[in-house]
Amino acid sequence: MSDETILATRGLGVSFGGLNAVRDLDLAVPVGEIRGLIGPNGAGKTTVFNLVSGFVRPTSGTVEFLGHRVDRLAAHKMTRRGMARTFQNPRLFPSFTVGENLRAAQAGSGRRESSVDWAMDKVALELDRTRSVAQLSQRDRKWLTIAMAMVSRPKLLLLDEPAAGLTEEEGGQLIDVVRRLRAELGLTILLIEHKMHMVMRVCDNITVLSSGAKLAEGTPAVISQDESVIEAYLGVAHARG
Ligand SMILES: Nc1ncnc2c1ncn2[C@@H]1O[C@H](COP(=O)(O)OP(=O)(O)OP(=O)(O)O)[C@@H](O)[C@H]1O
Ligand SMILES: [Mg+2]
Repeated sequence: MSDETILATRGLGVSFGGLNAVRDLDLAVPVGEIRGLIGPNGAGKTTVFNLVSGFVRPTSGTVEFLGHRVDRLAAHKMTRRGMARTFQNPRLFPSFTVGENLRAAQAGSGRRESSVDWAMDKVALELDRTRSVAQLSQRDRKWLTIAMAMVSRPKLLLLDEPAAGLTEEEGGQLIDVVRRLRAELGLTILLIEHKMHMVMRVCDNITVLSSGAKLAEGTPAVISQDESVIEAYLGVAHARG
């Protein structure tokens, strides 16, 4: 690969009790790529995020980020090195305001207060900062969590099912945000998503997981035609129409 690799895993794995949630995973994500990570429920997608972002320690293999081994680093250190993530179940302080949530993210990131304005601008978060999070729509909560991740001014952004619960139109807006972050900042994005049309539209390449292991990898065109993928995963979505 001629491109510079921002994130690389080699033989990455973790087992919980007897369950190999992620097995022998080799990943190489070039700078500036939008990479999809797909697979059936329980395939290990979120666990991959947990492993690379320091939330879960691998039981085997390595993680390199920006050319350095990081698999022994805690999550907050990963944030400071330039990796940010969102969570499948948004982690917000519901009794706090929009501004307070953003400030909490900023405090944890080690960035200046001005990063809050910057992040709001980058994800086009047009919300009154004094609003309570409890009053926000699903869509606005999603945007807020992405803005909170962006406050750290990351080089790599991990998005865990950002389109879940969004309407078709909101999903389209999300695609616009993802594309703009890459175009304006050269940001690398790893996207877990079950909404296949979104993954196919926005990703340069897709890695498919099944039972913790890599099943296939390639462009959306290649992946959508891959027999093993269709059988393991897409077939279900196709069958549903
Ligand atoms: N901390 C943990 N302790 C025990 N088992 C876990 C833990 N985290 C994940 N698992 C198990 O590992 C497997 C992979 O889970 P993971 O959440 O990574 O799947 P996923 O691909 O993100 O699925 P989904 O599409 O439903 O979000 C599952 O069987 C899950 O129950
Ligand atoms: Mg998950």
